[in-house]
Amino acid sequence: MAPKEEDPKKRIRALTKEIKAHNERYYKNNTPTISDKEYDLLFSELKKLEENYPEFVSPNSPTKTVGSDLSSQFSKFKHQVPVLSLENTYNTEELWEWIVKTGEDELYSLEWKIDGASILLYYVDGKLENCVTRGTGGIGDVVTENVKTIKGLPHELKSGRTVTVRGEIYMNFSDFEEFNEEYGGRFANPRNLSAGSIKQKDPAEVAKRPLRIFVYDAIFGKGRKGITEHKEILKLLKEDKFPLAPDTEIIPTKQLLQHIEAFRKKKDKTGFPVDGLVIKLNSLEKRESLGETSQSPRWARAFKFDALLKDTVIEDIDFAIGRTGKITPRAKVTPTILAGTTVTYATLHNQDYINELGAGIGAKVLISKRGEIIPAVEKVISPPTQGVFQLPTECPSCKTHLEKVDDSVDFFCTNRHCPEREKNSLIFFCAKKQMNIENIGEKQIEIFYEQGLAKNLVQLYSLHKKREELLAMNRFAEKSVDNILSAIEKSKEKDFRLTLPSLGLNEAGHKVTEILIENGLDSWDKLVALAKKKNAEEELSNLHGIGPRTVQALLGHLKDKETLTLVKNLIKLGLKFKADETEKSNLQPFIDQSWCVTGSFENFQPREKALDIITKHGGRKVSSVSSKTTHLLYGPGAGSKLEKAEELGITLVNEEEFLSLLKKEGIPH
Ligand code: IVH
Repeated sequence: MAPKEEDPKKRIRALTKEIKAHNERYYKNNTPTISDKEYDLLFSELKKLEENYPEFVSPNSPTKTVGSDLSSQFSKFKHQVPVLSLENTYNTEELWEWIVKTGEDELYSLEWKIDGASILLYYVDGKLENCVTRGTGGIGDVVTENVKTIKGLPHELKSGRTVTVRGEIYMNFSDFEEFNEEYGGRFANPRNLSAGSIKQKDPAEVAKRPLRIFVYDAIFGKGRKGITEHKEILKLLKEDKFPLAPDTEIIPTKQLLQHIEAFRKKKDKTGFPVDGLVIKLNSLEKRESLGETSQSPRWARAFKFDALLKDTVIEDIDFAIGRTGKITPRAKVTPTILAGTTVTYATLHNQDYINELGAGIGAKVLISKRGEIIPAVEKVISPPTQGVFQLPTECPSCKTHLEKVDDSVDFFCTNRHCPEREKNSLIFFCAKKQMNIENIGEKQIEIFYEQGLAKNLVQLYSLHKKREELLAMNRFAEKSVDNILSAIEKSKEKDFRLTLPSLGLNEAGHKVTEILIENGLDSWDKLVALAKKKNAEEELSNLHGIGPRTVQALLGHLKDKETLTLVKNLIKLGLKFKADETEKSNLQPFIDQSWCVTGSFENFQPREKALDIITKHGGRKVSSVSSKTTHLLYGPGAGSKLEKAEELGITLVNEEEFLSLLKKEGIPH
């Protein structure tokens, strides 16, 4: 490697050459010769030099490629044409500036911007040969077998065309909610789950996920000869039975703003996630004349809804370390008032997101606060002074090497005694949705932890022995100390339905716990005994609603020495790791029936209330539809469960029918 003091022009050239050679070895030959970290160092050095000496930047610089989502486990595919991204606009003025540049007398396609994972589908003579992620924009991951599991995607085209189709893999909200519920709520949103799902190792696992696809563009075999408009592309895609997003319109400039407003009004009714609109020139000839930058076409713009935006500067970047060890980078920004509150932090989600934005310390950025509580960095207006930020390789709290887990885009600290993880586990345990220990929140846990009074659950439940120390700290009044201690004591009344999920063990959330209890596995001891059996895996897999991932995770916990000791000690301290008997009625009309539920209901909110009636009166509730399910109770917004139940010929019951069934049986609700 050349010394860093070299003249900048030479150094930029040397770095460019070196990085390109590494790219070649990594992507094409799969034979990298340096670590990712060393690569990242070279990359950020080049980026920084290019910012300081823009006059020496080569148009083919490796820094000019679109952010990469490549994973090492997939084979690579060189895209036939660069896969570009879209430039965002955030208000009509900004959009209009662009319209003026494109020529005002044009037709535009106005489409939903679907919030999922971008995919390229390569058909040769009508056969789907390769499905490839966007990757770096130049090279993508081949995920063909995974994508082929998506229902409604044609594997063969009637037209026999050679065509590259571009689309978005997504998930409906209702499907996401049902699926996420089964997985203990571990996925943040449908977009992350969709992107993670297509990167699964096993296509059989992907097939279980309710993925869907919409396509929105195509490049035909021998150029676009004969095709002059976007409208025709969409028509041809339709004829070949591709799923197209609803509502797309081709309209003249003067109708644009009015139609954008109409889209805005119905944006929450689509049922699938949208993060704005895409406005594209309809004329392909006009598109060609405008061309594209290295990142995005000049003939299209994304239009973001409701993004209440403010500009500020990233002063520093730190991290939130969750109870699961997940590391979320957060930008510390110059305090800015946004939607009535002062924002000091904005999330940067993960490394992929940072790369996509080109964010880093010193960057001037736009932050937004939409429906979410935590503001996010949305756009980089002027580049960072210290290069694009790279997540550390070690946990900022305990220095453990960070790892990616499964299909996640996130990095995790795997040290379960990491102080941040321990603190957040305690906060989680006490939270409203878990043990609901009143008077204990983030602030109190922070104090207990920092003062060494309670670093884990056993110490939390022994806190009554430290009443004097708690008082002596002068951080809490006597009354608050007593309230805290009695809330801890009171929480011992909670049974296995809450104690198990509150431990925060992976895949052992409320839903899974319910299923275990319903199937007679209603205590920790029973679970431990089961795990010791030879056929434990089989027995657990037979339970409806418990997938293979959950089986493996549960067996792992039930054999894990530390977890076993923890629960043993908590039981000694008086916590219940057994489910209380639930009241059973004499009326048992649902006996031998297995009910599943989907959608929403007027009289049962949350819908679990309907299932509680069923279990109280002899039935079983299950979280997913299978051949063993006998009934599906469905309401508006029903997801993929309804389709599956129809396919399997399961008895379908709507809310009205359910109510009259209850009435007939004399069951109150
Ligand atoms: S057109 C070169 N149309 O948004 C034009 N993109 O931020 C490229 N997306 O990577 C895209 N819905 O994954 C287009 N109707 C739509 C879209 C859409 C969602 C995604 C796509 C792209 C990203 C750009």
